Amino acid sequence: MAPITKPDRAIPSTAQSSSCCSAFYEQDWVRHLAEDIFHPGGEELTNRTVAAMNLPAGAAIADLGCGTGTTAIMLARYYDFVVSAVDISAANIERAVQRMGADQTTVRFYQADAHQLPFNDSELDGLIAECSFSLFSERETVLAEIRRVLKPGGKLAITDMATSGALPEDIAGVLAPWTCLADAVDQETYLEMFAAAGFKIQTMADESAGLISLVRMLKRKLLLLGAGVLVNGKAPAFDLAGFDLASIKFWLDRFATEVEKGSIRYLRFNLYLPCPLANDKALQ
Ligand SMILES: C[S@@+](CC[C@H](N)C(=O)[O-])C[C@H]1O[C@@H](n2cnc3c(N)ncnc32)[C@H](O)[C@@H]1O
Repeated sequence: MAPITKPDRAIPSTAQSSSCCSAFYEQDWVRHLAEDIFHPGGEELTNRTVAAMNLPAGAAIADLGCGTGTTAIMLARYYDFVVSAVDISAANIERAVQRMGADQTTVRFYQADAHQLPFNDSELDGLIAECSFSLFSERETVLAEIRRVLKPGGKLAITDMATSGALPEDIAGVLAPWTCLADAVDQETYLEMFAAAGFKIQTMADESAGLISLVRMLKRKLLLLGAGVLVNGKAPAFDLAGFDLASIKFWLDRFATEVEKGSIRYLRFNLYLPCPLANDKALQ
């Protein structure tokens, strides 16, 4: 199997996710390399994102597109939030529930679609979506759902892939489906979408450095695996034979070049829902 050069063979036929990018993250070899953190910037970026949300302990927060639960568990354990987490993938939710048990934290995990959130109106103080928003097929619908479930003054944090100009053809053809880039848009388009849905911007940051670190980390791990060295002492839960490591390394370098050129970016948006009749400045 050559997972990047032959993408059609890498998607499990039983995947219930809404995009091939989602199915990509369900695969054992991806989980092994990413260690259950499927967004650039890892926990450090999550901490920056959550700090900017400025929510008190006990706040009700949801993680949308939670993957296998890393951020949700961290929010419950280290921030003392009341955490709910949603993912469309049954496999991811099953793994998240197992990991929560091992971690002795409490998170309400839901296998659900972002387009129809399993929450009551005005139930949440905050919602975070890390590297998942660009995968949703009807983002206006999802933003309307988020608006419905957030309290007035509620915080929304989105970190996601972004483009700047048209993607080079080779990247668009080979990498975009696997790197959440296929439906990523540019910064202005994100901002227009958020504004149209009634959200105001609190802070925005370019977090593209996390993409470069991610590429470096993946290359290092692949190098180790290729040399027969265990990554973090764990044996791979997949068969390395047949992986075209040279091809993967080529595409990782190609990806990093475009990040350095600025045509592929990773952005953080900290947003809030204004309170009716309130002074917006007071909420920031
Ligand atoms: C790139 S992964 C990010 C996972 C996690 N947020 C993280 O940072 O580790 C994107 C996640 O979004 C989920 N997803 C995609 N479409 C979805 C939808 N319509 N509703 C809910 N979750 C969705 C996928 O199953 C996948 O777990």
